[in-house]
Amino acid sequence: MVKSDSTDARLPRRSGATTARTDVSIRGVTHAYGHAGPPVLSGVDLEIASGEIVALIGRSGSGKSTLLHIVAGLLKPKDGAVWIGGQRVQKPSADWVMMFQSPSLFPWMNVAQNTGLGLRYAGQRAGAAARIAEVLALVDLAALADRNVQDLSGGQQQRVALARSIATEPGLLLLDEPFSALDIFTRRALQNDVRRIAQTLGLTLVLVTHDVAEAVQMADRSVLLAEGGRITADTPITLTEADRHTHSRDFQKEVTRLRTLYSEVAGMG
Ligand SMILES: Nc1ncnc2c1ncn2[C@@H]1O[C@H](COP(=O)(O)OP(=O)(O)OP(=O)(O)O)[C@@H](O)[C@H]1O
Ligand SMILES: [Mg+2]
Repeated sequence: MVKSDSTDARLPRRSGATTARTDVSIRGVTHAYGHAGPPVLSGVDLEIASGEIVALIGRSGSGKSTLLHIVAGLLKPKDGAVWIGGQRVQKPSADWVMMFQSPSLFPWMNVAQNTGLGLRYAGQRAGAAARIAEVLALVDLAALADRNVQDLSGGQQQRVALARSIATEPGLLLLDEPFSALDIFTRRALQNDVRRIAQTLGLTLVLVTHDVAEAVQMADRSVLLAEGGRITADTPITLTEADRHTHSRDFQKEVTRLRTLYSEVAGMG
């Protein structure tokens, strides 16, 4: 989708970030809502290497969003803790960004202004215009920089949200079903582009999804969160980049393998 190799090469690495490594260590995370609520997460342990792309898959209500909010420092677990780059997570940080199903753009700002919001809040004025241009090229929106975001399609709006997320050079992207509202073609293009962008920038990526094919398309590893809040399967996805498309026989084999496994361990496939 994006053919901006020369632009990729110019993009700065994580020079301004406070933590160069962004490995994620989730240890004994347990959560329930309210005083007497049922357990949502029950002693979740998960180690994610810096630069790894992990899909967190599970049925509706299995606790995926809860876990992602805890990793992001937006929710305090009842027990256990999360470390990112060796630092214990206590609150949100500029070193990681969460992206949701809805792009949450400001309708009175154009594409470039929305993209630069995080830079503005962080007080990063020097070089902001060049950085905005670079990330818009990376998400294939360079031609639409001056466009009002209300005039964009849903997929283009999600691209703006992605550009805004990566503009501040976070080391970790947490994606909570960001493609689920999009049609299948837009979705496939974004899935490919997000994987390529994460690899280009060396980002660690945690992607919440219901969709086994999405996990296989995007991730290096798929982790199943079963009801009751336990991880019941943790599987590497070893497809080559060339095979990460739905027409590939190996892709289909991998989807079938995971669906069979998930239906055995969680009645989900
Ligand atoms: N703020 C809240 N207050 C009380 N219960 C909540 C709250 N948020 C989530 N829950 C409950 O916690 C459980 C896990 O919810 P969570 O949103 O983490 O699931 P999920 O796996 O992300 O589901 P989905 O795939 O539908 O997004 C559910 O039973 C849900 O009803
Ligand atoms: Mg959710």
